[in-house]
Amino acid sequence: MVTAMNLAPSALATVETAVVGRRRETELVLAALAAGRNVLLEGPPGTGKSTLLRSVASVIGTEFVFVEGNAELTPARLLGSHDPAQVLERGYSADTFVDGPLLTALRAGSLLYVEEINRVPEETLNVLVTVMAEREVHVPRVGIFPAEHGFRMVAAMNPFDAVGTGRISAAIYDRTCRVEMGYQTDVDEVDIVAAAVHQAEGEPVEAERTRLTVALARSTRSHADIRVGSSVRGAIDMELVTQQLAALRSTDVDDLAVSLDAAKTALSGRIRLYEGSGRSADEVVEELWRAAFAERIAEAGADSGKAPPSGKAPTP
Ligand SMILES: Nc1ncnc2c1ncn2[C@@H]1O[C@H](COP(=O)(O)OP(=O)(O)OP(=O)(O)O)[C@@H](O)[C@H]1O
Ligand SMILES: [Mg+2]
Repeated sequence: MVTAMNLAPSALATVETAVVGRRRETELVLAALAAGRNVLLEGPPGTGKSTLLRSVASVIGTEFVFVEGNAELTPARLLGSHDPAQVLERGYSADTFVDGPLLTALRAGSLLYVEEINRVPEETLNVLVTVMAEREVHVPRVGIFPAEHGFRMVAAMNPFDAVGTGRISAAIYDRTCRVEMGYQTDVDEVDIVAAAVHQAEGEPVEAERTRLTVALARSTRSHADIRVGSSVRGAIDMELVTQQLAALRSTDVDDLAVSLDAAKTALSGRIRLYEGSGRSADEVVEELWRAAFAERIAEAGADSGKAPPSGKAPTP
């Protein structure tokens, strides 16, 4: 069966209008999909897996069928099932069957995007393996459905997710091309935050504050007490909360008390501390905030107009 397609280099430029950076990953995903292969995107939350894929799907002109992987994703939910009311009236037939996402994607030759595949129950994974291997699916009492031209599967997976990552069977790995999505570069992260805030607020953000906010979010990924740090979503939220909080308090967006409170609000729930670290998330965020914003704290200390936040004295 021919599943490959031709791609123009301009496809990359189109993806670049929606995706910041990620040139290499975009090339790899585009090439694998154009070759008719299935893809496994592996990376922590917020690394742009969905953003990249949405853009790639639109470039290759493929419909995109989205499935959230979780423990409730049974084979029947994935494939589809008979409508009980209709079955009572008309018995089991193809007419009483309601397509689930897998069948929808197979029949339309679309891209099936399974998020958090590591949370999918084993029996549902087996259905996906079978479809990848046979390129058709057998639905009892309905029939056999071959995959239409263009059908491919992309699965996303978070390596930090303790829930059953190990269960992803070798059979899935063996039927997919794997593209790793690590954290973005700091330059890209600043651009991502600036774009997201601009989109939400309609106004450009101050570049220097964005840079500090991104540095803070990034520092949560290498702190000794933190098992999993914040994604770029934490930096985006911190900037948005900073702006709103400053307005509520009728103060400047660079007010340090506002910045610290916004940091705690945006980041403390996103970091996962090691068990036995003995510290609270707020404490660790404050420590990292004091390091990232050290220069501003020092300046504020010298300038009595801008009081440093209350609490512990700034670390020198
Ligand atoms: N390279 C990027 N270009 C543009 N926006 C990005 C990029 N990476 C991340 N983002 C932004 O960051 C947020 C998270 O991205 P996205 O939802 O694509 O991540 P994900 O890897 O799918 O996360 P999850 O694993 O939680 O599903 C979105 O608001 C998205 O717009
Ligand atoms: Mg996603």
